[in-house]
Amino acid sequence: MATLVELIAKKRDGGSHDPGEIQRLIQALISGELADYQMSAWLMATFLRGLEPRETLELTDAMLGSGVVLDLSDVPGVKVDKHSTGGVGDKISLPLAPIVAACGVPVPMVSGRGLGHTGGTLDKLESIPGFRVDLSIADFRRIVREIGTCLIGQTKEIAPADKRIYALRDVTATVESIPLITASILSKKLAEGIDALVLDVKVGRGAFMKDLDRARALARSLVDVASRGGKGVTALLTDMDHPLGFAIGNALEAAESIDVLRGGGPRDILELTLDLAAEMLVLGKVEADVEGGRRRAQQAIDTGAAAEVLRKLIAAQHGDPRVVDDTSLLPRAKVVQTITAPRAGFVVDVDPLALGYAGVELGAGRTRADQAVDPAVGLVLRAPKGTEVRAGDPLIDVHASDEASFARVSARVASAFRIDDARVARGPLVFEALRGSGSSAP
Ligand code: URA
Repeated sequence: MATLVELIAKKRDGGSHDPGEIQRLIQALISGELADYQMSAWLMATFLRGLEPRETLELTDAMLGSGVVLDLSDVPGVKVDKHSTGGVGDKISLPLAPIVAACGVPVPMVSGRGLGHTGGTLDKLESIPGFRVDLSIADFRRIVREIGTCLIGQTKEIAPADKRIYALRDVTATVESIPLITASILSKKLAEGIDALVLDVKVGRGAFMKDLDRARALARSLVDVASRGGKGVTALLTDMDHPLGFAIGNALEAAESIDVLRGGGPRDILELTLDLAAEMLVLGKVEADVEGGRRRAQQAIDTGAAAEVLRKLIAAQHGDPRVVDDTSLLPRAKVVQTITAPRAGFVVDVDPLALGYAGVELGAGRTRADQAVDPAVGLVLRAPKGTEVRAGDPLIDVHASDEASFARVSARVASAFRIDDARVARGPLVFEALRGSGSSAP
């Protein structure tokens, strides 16, 4: 049998691992037989040489198998989740999970926190007074069964190998590898005990993948590996070259999500939510096609059924469900200042990355995983791309903890906008869909 060093050398030299070899490496990492510096060498070799889809599946399985896989077999129906690769103003999980659950498809969702310029679902949920994301697995299972959805944080039992490997990738410049990202995302998502998964792969300046070719390659890899793993899977490639919706910041995004469930909210949030819900309802086998899925999802909003699921979910997770009917109960920033247009014209660009980092600087996000966030602060876009403005018209509201904090970010926020003489319309929200061949049987 090859030694661990020989396995590292094999990948370094561009070889393909035999079945079982990647399992051995991951098990050796967990047992302590393989040191972090050896794993780092293998990660760099993999970053440079790549993995075949078969190898990526083995890595995913090995990382998944390093922890528990939730057994949701006592929850009837096809369990479907959604994962987004992350963006600015991306609060879609908040309206989406209640809508899909209201349509009869269970949504067990293990979510993440914001890191870097992107926000995280858990931080947005925790802005709701009392809301807890640190539930036991038993409570998670019970709430999914009773209400149809539950949203919690990653426990230490879920894919611990990913946690170890991600920490190494972060400091060895090996994050941006398609097979490594694929195994990292899927090992965590498949640990939820789901039957199918919808992926929102973001493209643009506010996303991990800046161009369509790279995003498409990641989407293909995710769809291919999830299908090989026997899961139903669809990936949508969606725009992240403009913030999603108007709100950036935790309580502001929670309020905007509630607006969507009450029949209002920004058009792009509603449209993307309906598109993703439709794919989940098809994979969940309650609708035959996405047109039917969109109609059914819209009905769940119109009848109030989705808002009612959100009330129950918030109550079950120890939060105050009255926020669904009165968003003024959410935390509010002390200072709200408006940045205005310096000249007349059309807003031709709103840079999501600049606004994402401004949100972090205000305290809505974090630059290190152990930092706390301020739930109240953030930004509310008043003039998205395509808006005609006069000099002095509002571009964006800054919600800050104090005047000094506003002063620190105002130049950066203003620099996110470009105003010109000719109108430039926003492009499509969804570029394309990739559908897998997995079964999605419960
Ligand atoms: N998100 C993950 O969970 N893992 C990665 O490797 C990248 C993004």
